[in-house]
Amino acid sequence: MYRFGYVSGRGEHYPFILLIPVLSRLGVGWMSLKEFDPDIFNLILKEKIRQMQGLELIPSENFVSIPVLEAMGSILTNKYSEGYPGNRYYGGCEFIDEVEQICIDRAKKLFGAEHANVQPLSGAPMNEAAYYALMNPGDTILGMDLGHGGHLTHGHPVTHLAKVFKFIRYKTTPDGKIDFENVRKMAREHKPKVILCGYSAYSRDLDYRQFKEIADEAGAFTMADIAHIGGLVAAGEMNNPVKDFDVVTTTTHKTLRGPRGGMILCRAELASRIDKSVFPGLQGGPHENLIAGKAVAFKEALQPAFREYARQVMKNAKVLEEVFKANDFHLCFGGTENHMLLMDVTPKGISGKELQVALDKAGITLNKNMIPDDPRPPMNPSGVRLGTPCVTTRGMKEKEMKRIADWINEVVNAPNDEKLLSRIKTEVRGLCEQFMFYH
Ligand SMILES: Cc1ncc(COP(=O)(O)O)c(C=O)c1O
Repeated sequence: MYRFGYVSGRGEHYPFILLIPVLSRLGVGWMSLKEFDPDIFNLILKEKIRQMQGLELIPSENFVSIPVLEAMGSILTNKYSEGYPGNRYYGGCEFIDEVEQICIDRAKKLFGAEHANVQPLSGAPMNEAAYYALMNPGDTILGMDLGHGGHLTHGHPVTHLAKVFKFIRYKTTPDGKIDFENVRKMAREHKPKVILCGYSAYSRDLDYRQFKEIADEAGAFTMADIAHIGGLVAAGEMNNPVKDFDVVTTTTHKTLRGPRGGMILCRAELASRIDKSVFPGLQGGPHENLIAGKAVAFKEALQPAFREYARQVMKNAKVLEEVFKANDFHLCFGGTENHMLLMDVTPKGISGKELQVALDKAGITLNKNMIPDDPRPPMNPSGVRLGTPCVTTRGMKEKEMKRIADWINEVVNAPNDEKLLSRIKTEVRGLCEQFMFYH
């Protein structure tokens, strides 16, 4: 059963069919991946089965549609096209130009943006390109503290970026809000060139106008990294920073449900700075097969059904919140207003890592995560982070969310009970089989 109106039933290994013409030129005849490289074929198959038989609750993941997979696995991967539509360093780009232009136009429409650069290879390089477009080495940027939900690329000391730019970080309040008076105070004190907001592990919406007011007062650029919530913003279910902010970055593979990649949206007057910063500043040839996949994903996101999807993602996260609260879990930031939850599980007598390992055995995948000002180390933190994009793509709703939260609660109470874990794993598989996505 395929849930988005596409035709399925073309056989279990349909996406691999696309590779056959390529392999036929390798002197191995018309061999399929299965025949030519069974090692890789079997590992892909095992991973597909793992994805389908278990519950994926990692909030940064999603399941792309067959049309998106087709575009990604297409012969567009063969083409070099450094530059931008109509202005390339290579010949033979007439069709590539059309692909990339369609992608750009759909991205602009989806978010109401004046300009879109769809070439960033992923989220980290998209942020790096945006920083270099707005700042010079040594400049200051004020962003969200990583322990309070910000991302590595927002200035973690282990990144190269932290050696180039001066990152100053604001935190959330004990009740999980952003203290705008403090952000204002910090902006006055540190005079940042850029005020950055956005997150990887924060579960609330943001008031972009307040950031904008502070940035205007400080003479700073505004930048929002909506990597996690891009799909929910595109669907109109969360606040959209695009019209107020100078630059907005988003990955395309999380709630946007497209290929692994990034995108930068900006005001028209910054377009040339952003484009030059992506290429030639940071990258070489764009991955046009992925850009085609992004274009397909954006077409999906422009359909009314995607709005329904985004709504359900958020409703599902709310159900998890309710059940966890009813079972006395400690939810960071007071709960969720998006697709994810961050929970401190140490009051339950278990660490984030221990819970992740136990849930793996029960067929439920989430990730251990630091909580704000976590006293524990990053590899064995106090929290777990979980979210609903994947299970919602499979078609699961409130009833299934309740079951999932109940299973997690059972595992928390007896993480070493192998019998329980194996019973839940069987039940999880039973549920998943009712919501198959890839066949
Ligand atoms: C807010 C945010 N920005 C950037 C990134 C980096 O994306 P990628 O892993 O594609 O480099 C992530 C990834 O989790 C993220 O959550």
